[in-house]
Amino acid sequence: MSNRPELSLDPQNWDTLKQIGHQMVDDMFDYLNNIRNEPVWRPVPERSKEYFEEDLPQRPQDIASLYEAFKTHILPYPQGNIHPRFWGWVMGSGTPVAMLAEMLAAAMNSNVCIDGQAAVLVEQQVLNWCKQLVGFPETASGLLTSGASMANLTALIAAREHISGGSVRRLGLQAEPNRMVLYCSMEAHHCIRKAAEVMGLGAASVSMIPVDDQYRMRTDLLEEIIQNDLAAGRFPFCIVGNAGTVNTGAIDPLSELAALARKYSLWFHIDGAFGAFARNIPEYADTLAAIGEADSLAFDLHKWMSVPYEAGCVLIRDETAHRKAYEQTANYLIRHERQQGSGQFSFGDYGIELSRGFKALKVWMTLKHYGAFAFTALIKQNIAQARYLSESVQQHPQLELTAPTALNIVCFRYVRPGWPEEKTRAVNQEIMLHMREKGAAIVSATILKGRYTLRAAIVNHRSRMEDFDFLVEQVVRNGHELG
Ligand SMILES: Cc1ncc(COP(=O)(O)O)c(C=O)c1O
Repeated sequence: MSNRPELSLDPQNWDTLKQIGHQMVDDMFDYLNNIRNEPVWRPVPERSKEYFEEDLPQRPQDIASLYEAFKTHILPYPQGNIHPRFWGWVMGSGTPVAMLAEMLAAAMNSNVCIDGQAAVLVEQQVLNWCKQLVGFPETASGLLTSGASMANLTALIAAREHISGGSVRRLGLQAEPNRMVLYCSMEAHHCIRKAAEVMGLGAASVSMIPVDDQYRMRTDLLEEIIQNDLAAGRFPFCIVGNAGTVNTGAIDPLSELAALARKYSLWFHIDGAFGAFARNIPEYADTLAAIGEADSLAFDLHKWMSVPYEAGCVLIRDETAHRKAYEQTANYLIRHERQQGSGQFSFGDYGIELSRGFKALKVWMTLKHYGAFAFTALIKQNIAQARYLSESVQQHPQLELTAPTALNIVCFRYVRPGWPEEKTRAVNQEIMLHMREKGAAIVSATILKGRYTLRAAIVNHRSRMEDFDFLVEQVVRNGHELG
C-alpha cells in the first residue's frame, strides 16, 4: 500500500470552511432583509459576462475567493422575483426559512426515491398536507415535481394510460389508430401543448376551446366539439380545466367540466399552478370546489406557497392508475422485505425520474414554520392588492383595464385617445422595459384579443399596498414621457 493520503472532497480544515459558511448565512439574511432597498433588476455587466467565459477550472480555488466572485458576478444580478416590486410572469419570492432548509437538504444529499429513509416520509407527509390544502382525498397519490409543467405532464401520461387501458404504454401510439384528443381552453398554459408533443400525441391532438368574455372555457362549445370528434372517429381522452389561467387568472367552469368528463368517460385534469390554493379563501370555495372532483391536479409550490425554486406537485385521485402509468421492475432495484432501502415503496413508480432531490424538506419546513393559515392570509392579501391595483387602474383616465381581475392577475395598459394599436403597443412595451431597466418594478406583458397589455401577477409576500401606488405612478409617468 502506498503512503500517499487518499483523496476526498471534504476540507482539510473544517474550521476555515465553517467560518466562511457562517459568513455566507449572515450575508444572505442581510441581503434578504435589505432587498427592498435594492433595484428590482439590473443588467449583467460585460465584465461579469466575460467572467463566465473562463475555461474549465483544473486547479483548486479557495472558497473565500469563490465567494467573492459570487458576490461580484452573480448575487447582484438576480431575476428579481425576490423583490417586493416584482410581478412578472407568475414567480414566487421564496423565504429565508426555506433557504435554510435548502442547505440542510443539500447536506443530507438524499436521493428521495426508495423507502427506508426519513426523506421519503417527509415527502409523503408533505403530499398529504398538499391534499388537505387543495381538497383532494387522502387516498390519492402524488409526487413532488420540479414545477407545474412536469406535474401536468406526469398527470396527462397517467390519463393517457388509464383511458387507453394501458395499451399505449405497451404498444406505443400505434395501439390507438384513432387520434387521441385532449381538450383545454385557448388560455391554457403552453406546457399542456408541450406535454402532448412530448407524449407523442402531437400538438394537433390538443383541441383548444374558445373562451367567453371572462376568459373561461366555453363549455357549450366543448360539448359540441367532443361530439364532433366522436362522430369523426377520434378518441377523446381528457379535459384540462384551468384553476387560474396564466394570462388573466381566469377560472374555468370546473364543475361543468367535471360533469362533461363524467358524461363522456374522460379523465378530468386541472392545472391549478397557482390558483388551486385560492380554494381556501371562502369567496373562491364554490368556484374551486370541483378540484375535489378532478382525477388529477397540478400545482406549484414555488409560486403562491413561496417555496424556493423548484417545487411543484401532482396529485392523482386513483393511486393504482397513477402507479400503472409508471412502475417498472429491474434487477438492480430488487425489492426486499426488510428495512433499509427495501424498495417496497418507490417514488420512481409514480413519475418519470428515478433519482430525485430532497425538495420536500423546504416545503415541510415552510408549512411547519409558517403554518397553513399564514398562506391563506397571504393569498387573501395578494388578491386584495390585485383588486386595489385594478380599481386604481379603472380610476385613472390614462389607464385601461384589459381583462377582468378574477384572482391575482391585473391586465392593464397606458392609453391615449386616438392612438392606433401599434402606438399603444410600442409605448406600453417601452414603459415595461423602462421600469425594468431603472430597477423600479417588474411586470410582464401579454396579448389579449390582439391587444398588447401589461400584466401584474401578484404572488409576492413582500409586496405592500404602497408598491401598487408606486406602480401606477411609474406607468403613468413613463407613459407621459414616452408617449
Ligand atoms: C397556469 C400555469 N400552468 C403551468 C405553468 C408552468 O409552471 P412551471 O413554470 O412551474 O413549470 C404556469 C407557470 O406560470 C402557469 O401559470
